[in-house]
Amino acid sequence: MTSYKELGLVNTREMFAKAVAGGYAIPAFNFNTLEQMQAIIQAAVETKSPVIMQVSKGARNYANGTILRYMAQGAVEYAKELGCEKPQIVLHLDHGDSFELCKDCIDNGFSSVMFDGSSLPYEENIRITKQVVEYAHAHDVTVEAELGVLAGVEDEVASEVSHYTKPEEVVDFSTRSGCDSLAISIGTSHGAYKFTPAQCTRDPKTGKLVPPPLAFDILHEIEKRLPGFPIVLHGSSSVPQDEVDTINAHGGKLPDAVGIPEEQLREASKSAVCKINIDSDSRLAMTAAIRKHFDEKPGDFDPRQYLKPARENMKKMYIHKIVEVLGSNDKL
Ligand code: 13P
Repeated sequence: MTSYKELGLVNTREMFAKAVAGGYAIPAFNFNTLEQMQAIIQAAVETKSPVIMQVSKGARNYANGTILRYMAQGAVEYAKELGCEKPQIVLHLDHGDSFELCKDCIDNGFSSVMFDGSSLPYEENIRITKQVVEYAHAHDVTVEAELGVLAGVEDEVASEVSHYTKPEEVVDFSTRSGCDSLAISIGTSHGAYKFTPAQCTRDPKTGKLVPPPLAFDILHEIEKRLPGFPIVLHGSSSVPQDEVDTINAHGGKLPDAVGIPEEQLREASKSAVCKINIDSDSRLAMTAAIRKHFDEKPGDFDPRQYLKPARENMKKMYIHKIVEVLGSNDKL
């Protein structure tokens, strides 16, 4: 058993309470690679932001759980080396699909876990979330639960349609499950293709897709019923069109990729939404930089030559999200 406390990590409890009270959101960036981890930490330190580094089941399989644990410990030490005296870094399991996986992560240094029972029948979702909460709280680990289903594909999680969270269920669910935060479905979606062209309108000037707005009425109703309770938004990449254009201009093929407009995420950050999940934007920033590099310098074959600009581009994107969208800068 390795407690996250030994690794210098923190859980989300205090972080979320401050974010809800302060009207900002904590960035939750997914990572699988060294370069993503370095870029996340550099961005968090430079902006003086707390940060959640999250790992899906797929990422854990890709990178290996033991390595990830040491990477998280390395992230804390790296932040200190960069000049941050008391880094606020959470290592979070994204979309845990069983009690056993959540327990394994808690036993291996995670400070926060998500049990995603959103596809299960309501009572079953409560039952397993509660089981995870009991084990997690005994180890001072915080738990995110999910109610409502997001559309889109993310590692093992896939759904073709979204089902908005029902506000009338949130009090019963959070009380009976004991979860510390709740991921809700209000129209965000996983991946770089969040909406089909049929769900969007088209900007007559640029020809780009304009997605349907998030269901802020549902968010506000949930806030009214659960005052001050930390709410989480998954599927919140904005799919920057400049990165999509760079990818497409350098041999990529991402037609009609579309995300959540940043002004809507900015608005959500000011509410009870205190954690915003971003994965696809990092993938796009990395891919755009690498494609451009290979196109311009076809003779390069040392990974450092193309991973360095990829890391720089991700860092720029993380800083932009922290400062311009979530508002978590200067909150350490
Ligand atoms: P995106 O695909 O929008 O980045 O969402 C990531 C996410 O929600 C991880 O849980």
